[in-house]
Amino acid sequence: MTSCAVTGIGLLVTNDPARADGPLGEITNATVVVERGAIAWVGPAAAAPPADLGVDAGGGCVLPGFVDSHAHLVFAGDRAAEFAARMAGTPYSAGGIATTVAATRAAPDELLAAGIARLVAEMACGGTTTVEIKSGYGLTVADEVRGLALARAFTKETTFLGAHVVPPEYAGRTDDYVALVAGDMLDACAPYARWVDVFCDRGAFDADQARTVLEAGMAQGLAPRLHANQLAPGPGVRLGVELGAASVDHCTHLVDADVAALAGSATVATLLPGAEFSTRSPYPDARRLLDAGVTVALATDCNPGSSYTSSMAFCIALAVREMRMTPAEAVWSATAGGAAALRRGDIGVVRVGARADLVVLRAPSYVHLAYRPGVDLVASVFRAGRQLR
Ligand code: NIG
Ligand code: FE
Repeated sequence: MTSCAVTGIGLLVTNDPARADGPLGEITNATVVVERGAIAWVGPAAAAPPADLGVDAGGGCVLPGFVDSHAHLVFAGDRAAEFAARMAGTPYSAGGIATTVAATRAAPDELLAAGIARLVAEMACGGTTTVEIKSGYGLTVADEVRGLALARAFTKETTFLGAHVVPPEYAGRTDDYVALVAGDMLDACAPYARWVDVFCDRGAFDADQARTVLEAGMAQGLAPRLHANQLAPGPGVRLGVELGAASVDHCTHLVDADVAALAGSATVATLLPGAEFSTRSPYPDARRLLDAGVTVALATDCNPGSSYTSSMAFCIALAVREMRMTPAEAVWSATAGGAAALRRGDIGVVRVGARADLVVLRAPSYVHLAYRPGVDLVASVFRAGRQLR
């Protein structure tokens, strides 16, 4: 069995609090040894065991691969004109999703698969080693199954989002569409999904409709997560907590009762600042959540409408500059926080036995991810010990 040592690590972020003070479990002048795709040894370079091969981090900072726990990568088409109109003053609404639904339905499988592959590769280049992928731009039984089956080739973390919006052919018949989603569509999609999600918000689905879909999904063994409180205050966050959702995502418009419910729960609040950036909306109040003891994750929400970025580094920079997260909090949320939002213990951490997902930065510290916004600082990326960049 061949072992490989990553040496020359100026600063290692482990996210293992047993390692050092502070949530990032930082070690200076560190070595990580990888065997069979997993972390076999972590510690100070001076104490490292011998290894068969070596990779030199050049004195840079190394951190766990980013965990992007919220992305919509199964789509066709482009909404640059909608973005430009927004920047000229047109507000964002859930209605734009229908544009992508039409383009996605018309696209052949090969085009959709190529689009996912392009974005997953772009993410890997930026240091993302785990991505969750949602359906939700098909909205027929056949198109939702197709989207999930295609996504499954790229990740185990697939999410059935048939309840994204009501498609045009069901206009005025929302309850009929909810019955389809919670019935035949779910039956067909469940074998391809780990998670069930609903967009519970203004212009999408209300709490009763969301509950119907989520409970039906749970009865088929899918675990719940939600899009909630993005466009307006509402019941989504508290519904997610009540149902034991792994994560409630967006959390832009919260009242005190939402924060209190999250603080007393195991549900993660996943913040998606790329969406606020691209829709020119107020950012979620990360400080209020963190100060209340809520577990916060950061993700890209990569999609062609509200947030067409695949860059976790960009989201970290936004979280620090615009949402008053410290650089350490933002890095934790983009790695360990994302892992918590996916209920995964094997990623988002550099600990013996974890998957060997590592990002090597061309920078001495993770602070540079926010301090040098828009600059590609990723020198190399490893996923399960395999070099992706
Ligand atoms: O997470 N909020 C709902 N869905 C996406 C937006 C999708 C779109 O505009 O196409 C989101 O922001
Ligand atoms: Fe989303």
